[in-house]
Amino acid sequence: MRFPAVLIKVSDCTSRVPVLLSFQAHGIFSRLQAKPQRECDSSYLLWTIRLFRNGNARSSFGIAFDIDGVILRGQVPVGGSPQALGRLYDDSGATKVPFLFLTNGGGVPESRRAIELSGLLGVNILPSQVVQGHSPFRNLLNRYEYELIVATGKGEPAVVMSEYGFKKVLSLEEYASYFENIDPVSQYKKWTTCDLATKARQHEMFEPDYDIFSEKVRAAFVVSDPVDWGRDIQVLCDILKSGGLPDKHYGDQPALYFAADDLEYQAAFPTKRLGVGAFRIALECIFNRIHNKPLQYTSYGKPNPFVFKNAETILRKIQLNDKNEDAQSHSFETIYMIGDNPPVDIKGAKQAGHPWFSILTRTGVFRGKDNDPDFPADRVVDTVEEAVEYILQRECCL
Ligand code: G3P
Ligand code: MG
Repeated sequence: MRFPAVLIKVSDCTSRVPVLLSFQAHGIFSRLQAKPQRECDSSYLLWTIRLFRNGNARSSFGIAFDIDGVILRGQVPVGGSPQALGRLYDDSGATKVPFLFLTNGGGVPESRRAIELSGLLGVNILPSQVVQGHSPFRNLLNRYEYELIVATGKGEPAVVMSEYGFKKVLSLEEYASYFENIDPVSQYKKWTTCDLATKARQHEMFEPDYDIFSEKVRAAFVVSDPVDWGRDIQVLCDILKSGGLPDKHYGDQPALYFAADDLEYQAAFPTKRLGVGAFRIALECIFNRIHNKPLQYTSYGKPNPFVFKNAETILRKIQLNDKNEDAQSHSFETIYMIGDNPPVDIKGAKQAGHPWFSILTRTGVFRGKDNDPDFPADRVVDTVEEAVEYILQRECCL
């Protein structure tokens, strides 16, 4: 808990420690932090005082880390990220500050991503600390649990959806393999790992207990960055245009969901790469040219305000450490969003409003000297390590 401000007479400042400790004497608080903010006039100092209740020490702030361009570039840590994260743990390995990763990326289940991140960053990350672009797809379970759905993107999109509980899910690649010649240029794709004989064997081994050729696809999910844009655009157009059965022509467009809408993002290559948002534009342009009704779709991920609301709720739960307390009963004074992409991370944090505070790094999409002109952050730093240093100083944790 933090008292917003306390005015203390300058004449008392020499004895400021005893003055402040008298709060503790009441036995209500176990820990106290105080810092002078500014001199209001010649005789008063404005202080901010933060008090922690006995036996229930809670941080009044939390941190959300973007991954691509802030923590990693490709599979390589950037900006001193292992060191930055290491500062959020105490000697026993327990977290001192509640934090999570808030990424628009994905393609593997949150549990696996947590293991990967732990290995790359040298700290123990829990699955509950990983929020990916597709994480909210699990909220659609009541609508599609027993319906046929397809999922596409790098990694293992169908495994992601199965782990969320969807019972009838196929990857777009697997689905397409049932329809001979659906991709007219597949034989030229030298990188395709599976030949037709192998595919036929796979179909025999994992024969679904429903008829692929009569069961309509009810929804398509773009879980992460698509790998084969040409095939995916073709097959998605087939499914969406036909009403859920590629070689037939009837019915309304099945639902289409994107895990994110990033036009560009920072990966291992020196300049920005095209993201899921770019794929969405390509699909939408083509679909709208070949179909008489415009493409209907829903995009998740940052900068949507609900992503930030959800992150706040998760941070509260992390803070309460799964104790049987109502997560709503605790609120943060500040949640820091550390991101590299102004129209995604910074715009999102700005739109979310209190308690979000945005910090923009220069290790990814943004490389400007000053602030971003369109979506200015509350603070601009070079690296995530610098961002964490700034936060800990601002929060009097040093
Ligand atoms: O595909 C990854 C990407 O679109 C962005 O990831 O971590 O920068 O939100 P991130
Ligand atoms: Mg990023």
